[in-house]
Amino acid sequence: MKIEKIGIVGSGRIGGNLGILLAKAGYEIFYSSRHPDTLKDLVKAAGPKARAGNVAEAVSFGDVIVLSVPLMALEELDHKTKAALKGKIVIDTSNPYPERDGEIAEEARREPDGMGTFVARLLPGARIVRAFNTVYFEDLKKTINKDGDKIGIPIAGDDQEGLKAAVELVERAGLDPVVVGGLSKSKLFDVGAPVYATSASAREINQKLNLRPEASSRAA
Ligand SMILES: NC(=O)c1ccc[n+]([C@@H]2O[C@H](COP(=O)([O-])OP(=O)(O)OC[C@H]3O[C@@H](n4cnc5c(N)ncnc54)[C@H](OP(=O)(O)O)[C@@H]3O)[C@@H](O)[C@H]2O)c1
Repeated sequence: MKIEKIGIVGSGRIGGNLGILLAKAGYEIFYSSRHPDTLKDLVKAAGPKARAGNVAEAVSFGDVIVLSVPLMALEELDHKTKAALKGKIVIDTSNPYPERDGEIAEEARREPDGMGTFVARLLPGARIVRAFNTVYFEDLKKTINKDGDKIGIPIAGDDQEGLKAAVELVERAGLDPVVVGGLSKSKLFDVGAPVYATSASAREINQKLNLRPEASSRAA
């Protein structure tokens, strides 16, 4: 699958900055918001490959969707948006924070199979891939950690094309992908995991998660 167009739902600190990196890498970016007029400065910062509109437009535009909203917003997505996400590769960055998201975050933290499984249940039919949830947005902008290594991005998903897409986007954004496994393996890099919000390199992530680097650097 050739990825040319990326729809971003949730154009905040993660979605906005990731869109800048991906626009500079040559992808066409469609940022979205419930208030698209607020995205003018972001579109300007991302340059000529970026534009903005509403959520429905971004979902229909993207070969791949980056979903980067607070967890509670996933529940609030309207039926039409949820229907439009069916069959789409959806790269989800969300993390559960009870102080921000309320009860749904408590539920997500109780999910034994982790956030990937939890989010997939909220968005039936979407081809969910977990990525970019471990990187603090200020570090995402830099792409390199304090040791001068590319920041590693753990990825998990059951959809092989979705995994490949996530690997491509991570690499083209200037970061280093680490494919951890199927969607339930995303629990290994959920909030509080040893690789969460550390800006660890791919090598360090492989070590901390006891992965074989040759098996994890590429999707099958
Ligand atoms: N901040 C970080 O460093 C970081 C790192 C990794 C992962 N994450 C996770 O990634 C997700 C996004 O984080 P963020 O820090 O980028 O958040 P953010 O800066 O608050 O941006 C989130 C965006 O989601 C949109 N949104 C909110 N409710 C929505 C709804 N009901 N429908 C559609 N869009 C909605 C908002 O856009 P409008 O109000 O314009 O519609 C907002 O711009 C969160 O789950 C967070 O936990 C954050």
